[in-house]
Amino acid sequence: MATKVKSTRKAASAKNVERDTTTPLHPIMELFINGIQDMYWAENHLVKALPKMRSESASKELQSAIADHLEVTKGQVARLEQVFELIGHQARARKCDAMEGLTLEGEGTIEDTVEGTPVRDLGINMSCQKVEQYEIASYTGLIALANSLGLPEVAELLNANLQEEQESLDLLSSMSEEITARSLQAN
Ligand SMILES: [Fe+2]
Repeated sequence: MATKVKSTRKAASAKNVERDTTTPLHPIMELFINGIQDMYWAENHLVKALPKMRSESASKELQSAIADHLEVTKGQVARLEQVFELIGHQARARKCDAMEGLTLEGEGTIEDTVEGTPVRDLGINMSCQKVEQYEIASYTGLIALANSLGLPEVAELLNANLQEEQESLDLLSSMSEEITARSLQAN
């Protein structure tokens, strides 16, 4: 078992090198790759879903936070592509049911609320926070796996994504408190 992990490390340290497909992957490496493919699908899905969330928001601050996060998300997709390169695998997406569910729930929130109201903004904000929480949980787990597999460069790239998700969550969280306070004062 240890030999297989070692060969993976060797492949991971060489850039632009395809993995030796004759060597079976360690099951933990397989789990890790599945997780990366899942996040690759999730981030690409968000690149398509975030513009709708932005256009349905009335608050300029929320619109701008979502627009900024869209650009950040494109950078995260690029980092995941670097991860695939480092581990010698072609970038491939694996459908992330959780992210599909979270964005569907976000669309439901839009349907259930009135256009241009702080309540809709709050609903969109909460949906975005759930997305961030999912991504934070996923990247945290994947970083631990990358470290265990002896892939520090990969862990570093994933950590950059994690930090951005955390920053986004913090911003959304403080924004939701402001939206709620303003809305309660107005009524
Ligand atoms: Fe992300």
